[in-house]
Amino acid sequence: MCGIFGCVLSEGSAAPIIHRALERLEYRGYDSVGEATVYGGRVHVKKAAGKIGEIHKLLNLDDLPGSVGIGHTRWATHGKPSDRNAHPLFDCKENVAVVHNGIIENYQELKDMLIEKGHSFISDTDTEIIPHLIEENISLGLEKAVMEAVRKFEGRYAIAAISSDENMLVGVRRGSPLIVGRSENKTFIASDIPAFLNHTNQVMYLDDNEMVVIDGNVRFFNTETGQSIEKRLITINWDAKQAEKGEYPYFVIKEIMEQKETIMRAINQDENTILRTAEEIKRAYGTFFTGCGTAGKVCMAGEYIFSKVAKKHVNFVISSEFPNYKHFLTDKTLLITISQSGETADLMEAVETARKMGVKVLSLVNVMGSSLYRNSDYAFLLNAGPEKAVASTKATTAQLALVTLLAYAVAGRLQEGKRLLMETASKVNDMLNPRYEARIAELARKLKDSQSIYIIGRSLNYPMAMEAAIKIMELSNIHAQGFAGGELKHGPLALIQDGTPCIVFAANDETRVDIISNAMEVKARGGYIIGVSPRNNEVFDYWIKVPDVGNASPVVNIIPIQILAYHLALLRGCDPDYCRNLAKSVTVK
Ligand code: G6P
Repeated sequence: MCGIFGCVLSEGSAAPIIHRALERLEYRGYDSVGEATVYGGRVHVKKAAGKIGEIHKLLNLDDLPGSVGIGHTRWATHGKPSDRNAHPLFDCKENVAVVHNGIIENYQELKDMLIEKGHSFISDTDTEIIPHLIEENISLGLEKAVMEAVRKFEGRYAIAAISSDENMLVGVRRGSPLIVGRSENKTFIASDIPAFLNHTNQVMYLDDNEMVVIDGNVRFFNTETGQSIEKRLITINWDAKQAEKGEYPYFVIKEIMEQKETIMRAINQDENTILRTAEEIKRAYGTFFTGCGTAGKVCMAGEYIFSKVAKKHVNFVISSEFPNYKHFLTDKTLLITISQSGETADLMEAVETARKMGVKVLSLVNVMGSSLYRNSDYAFLLNAGPEKAVASTKATTAQLALVTLLAYAVAGRLQEGKRLLMETASKVNDMLNPRYEARIAELARKLKDSQSIYIIGRSLNYPMAMEAAIKIMELSNIHAQGFAGGELKHGPLALIQDGTPCIVFAANDETRVDIISNAMEVKARGGYIIGVSPRNNEVFDYWIKVPDVGNASPVVNIIPIQILAYHLALLRGCDPDYCRNLAKSVTVK
């Protein structure tokens, strides 16, 4: 949610590097793009509202002088997408330029104070107070001026700043991600590692209230105490190719197809660690799953999987609602968090709330070194590789597989769980072939003009019905809603008319008879039934076959719906990677 980038090169031009990095960060927001560099005692800038490809055609983003610069790709919060509100934003004299990800909560109060002192503002953003606050002390140099400025803000943010008089880049983090990358003659800061992964896999993480100053050297400080900090250089095991589309037209279809391998990678965890973690889960008194969006649906599925497999009750609370449950937290509670990015603001706030009550945090997270990864007592990496499309796919099935494995470990049946998931991974590998995709594409052609699509499931597949609705909504912008099969007669049946599509997850388990009856109820009212099931049934108007994998059915059921949503997006002219009004890595509340 907003991508920021900055670089200092020992030679050469920063602009083309900033431009490429912003393309890789575009999944974080695509409302506007901008970059600024320092050269000849001036800050040079190009910025505009719109997507980076279009803006580059108009402005040539590779053409700015200087070897120090910053860039930004925006997901609008304060102020609508426009050229005026595009970052970088400036001080009165256009000597200081700033890019920002996050929200400055006390910006109005600071803006009023700055206006009183004679500063003039041109944008509607909260960000613009930052360069003006820096301007107040710029005579002390950029490093000191930024340090003074950030001590006045409240909120969650990551910023990068440059000024016309110094070949220097300053970054500060509090609550939003900021990572430093170093190669021999280039140093970077970015919201996410893929931004500079083609230059280096050597990184250093900033923690909250830390500042990095990059000139000839790289120095770190605590912004509250002013003291300098030592940082360790960490090698990341992602390579740049993993973060590119390769032969695929879109990231999302590449990531869907990568599920041939990612499920196996997710369960390939150290067995002793799994067993130790299972003991922690058993010991905990009061256990919660929490996550947001798709990861939240995996948490909900986790509640069912733990109940069914491990006979253990784990509460599920979506992260934005978690603070309401703080009265139930003690030092014996365990919070299990699930996240792709490990940076989602609501989730991080849930972790903060829990930590204050002495709760231990166990995380299933894809991004190594993310805030969540570093703020957890125990963390499992999903090993799905970079996920760039806004709609989560391969991270979802990796999360589902790992939650299922943990449930089996808690039940004392780790090897059985492992065998089941290995078999599931191999069946997914077989399933993801061109013929299978063609059959789903055919269904997409039938459904492309639908007003609404409903999805029903029971037990483990009830949360998957809700996740299927998220996929269809965000990718194709068709209204979609998931229900528990048993709830149909309490309201949703009123929505069924002739031809209304209803997807039915009919796993080969104890829920099959009932969910088929629910499908009958829909069909009796004119609904068009799409069965996602290992076995065909007379109620299905269209059958999508999935392998029979017992308790791992959520993993295989969601995959055809990911493919369906992708094809619906293509047919309806939606960008499958950049869902309307959404962004990945949601670092605002
Ligand atoms: C956004 C993304 C979703 C994701 C959710 C939670 O809404 O578009 O794909 O499920 O955030 O993100 P996380 O990184 O915590 O899994």
